[in-house]
Amino acid sequence: MELNEKIRSMNDELENRVLERTKKIQEANNELEKFCYTVAHELKAPLRAISLYNDIIKEENEEDLTKESEYAVDNITMYCGKSLKLIGDILEYSKMKSQKLKLVRVNMNKLVEADIDEIKILNPERDIRVNMPRLPVVMADEFLLMCAVHNIMSNSVKYSAKKQYTEIIIDYEETAEKYIFQFTDNGAGFDMEGAVNIFELFNRMHPDTEYEGSGVGLATVKNIIEKHGGRISIKSAVDNGCTVMFSLLK
Ligand SMILES: Nc1ncnc2c1ncn2[C@@H]1O[C@H](COP(=O)(O)OP(=O)(O)O)[C@@H](O)[C@H]1O
Ligand SMILES: [Mg+2]
Repeated sequence: MELNEKIRSMNDELENRVLERTKKIQEANNELEKFCYTVAHELKAPLRAISLYNDIIKEENEEDLTKESEYAVDNITMYCGKSLKLIGDILEYSKMKSQKLKLVRVNMNKLVEADIDEIKILNPERDIRVNMPRLPVVMADEFLLMCAVHNIMSNSVKYSAKKQYTEIIIDYEETAEKYIFQFTDNGAGFDMEGAVNIFELFNRMHPDTEYEGSGVGLATVKNIIEKHGGRISIKSAVDNGCTVMFSLLK
């Protein structure tokens, strides 16, 4: 009896200690996230200024710049643009992470169709063909789900840029407790062997010289799906397209 009580009290103490440590780690994580957000935000202004002064240099010296200087000036503009885009993506990712879910009934069919229209407008030079059945109504945060779908389909368009046309095949399965959606494209794909951390921030399977990107998209999608209690996975093979699957609880 005494021994049992001792064990119980030791267990209680251990549990309390774990709870306390978890709370401290969470607090430290929150602080770190806030810090990263602020740093990213503060970097935007000086980058914009660099870009602006660079434009002035180019404008005022248009005729006098040597070829090398012009190349350098153009590169400054390009790198500023890339950094600003990356910062924008990181800020969006952090905002999504801390955003509370507003669950409503979302007509997945309408949402996907609206995004197809948007993607076609954003890529007027591409022949984009989408094939999908009638999609169901789900419970989700409409804005966040739209962001997830947009990221997945934008990747399909980007990584199929070297194909004659982009084909996206959408499908879904239904079980008693969830819907599982699947987006498949005909793009460049990648080798699954190197893709263990593909959903982590900044991880990319293609070099920037071949396909531009920041590696924030899939991390954002994973975050959104997991916030909804769903799961996400990806399947691909080199030059054989890519399939992103995610589930949403009913
Ligand atoms: N549809 C796809 N086809 C081929 N590769 C993809 C696809 N979607 C994602 N990837 C790979 O996963 C990486 C991470 O995707 P993402 O986070 O959206 O970053 P990025 O900014 O590079 O698009 C990409 O760099 C790419 O290598
Ligand atoms: Mg992307």
